[in-house]
Amino acid sequence: MITLAVSNQKGGVGKTTTCINLAAELGRLGFSVLSVDIDPQANCTSGLGVALPPKSPSLYNVLLGDVPAGAAILKTKWEGVSILPATLDLAGAEIELASTISRETKLRRVVSSITGFDIAILDCPPSLGMLTVNALVAADKLIIPIQCEYFALEGVGQLSRTISLVKEGLNQNLAIDGILLTMHDSRTRLANDVADEVRRQFGEIVFKTMIPRNVKLAEAPSYAEPICYYDPSCSGAKAYEEFSKEVASLWLKDED
Ligand SMILES: Nc1ncnc2c1ncn2[C@@H]1O[C@H](COP(=O)(O)OP(=O)(O)O)[C@@H](O)[C@H]1O
Ligand SMILES: [Mg+2]
Repeated sequence: MITLAVSNQKGGVGKTTTCINLAAELGRLGFSVLSVDIDPQANCTSGLGVALPPKSPSLYNVLLGDVPAGAAILKTKWEGVSILPATLDLAGAEIELASTISRETKLRRVVSSITGFDIAILDCPPSLGMLTVNALVAADKLIIPIQCEYFALEGVGQLSRTISLVKEGLNQNLAIDGILLTMHDSRTRLANDVADEVRRQFGEIVFKTMIPRNVKLAEAPSYAEPICYYDPSCSGAKAYEEFSKEVASLWLKDED
């Protein structure tokens, strides 16, 4: 299993949308996918249509060592996709983890205890706190979504410094492996300028596929459906399909 983190401490750049739709697309391509929701806002969990029954364990209980990962993993309605769900109490883990031994490697150990999946996709919170550090330590591959808007690169320097620190100390394989341009509006000069600038700065790690700004992508979570089920013919669905194929051909072996 490879572990892929989707991170950017800027909020609203398309991390969760990317995690939900990459999971669903890879599932449809025949891969066995585990979504891991590391954001206490739990948008990935709800966006995949998972409503946690009261008292059922979540990533929070797993991280604190109360239950094994297998006890919290749920199947979703979508082909090939399971989830290790988040709940609001995960916010407490930021603080509770801070005082535990080997606090930065908790998630890595959780992930390495899990079998039966081709890929785990980690949806990170919009911060560089203990949960994100845990994701960066656990990750084999890292994708940064960048919104094609003004201030797009704001914070990427700070993220790069965190990546360097984690790389020195805890995960020597960590690097930015992919940049995904999101919410691209090809009609605006600004979006095109940002895309050009990101490609100039980061070169070939930028995915060929750009995710367009598409209202269907914003609607789908309120119906708790990935875009490929909500509206398979819209531009957002096509873009996430292409992006997922890029991910599969880079980092996953073909099923057959
Ligand atoms: N390509 C897109 N086109 C239109 N709306 C989008 C797109 N990607 C994300 N959104 C919407 O923008 C908001 C932020 O996206 P989200 O994926 O939650 O970002 P993050 O997880 O980085 O905070 C959400 O309301 C989402 O539905
Ligand atoms: Mg999010």
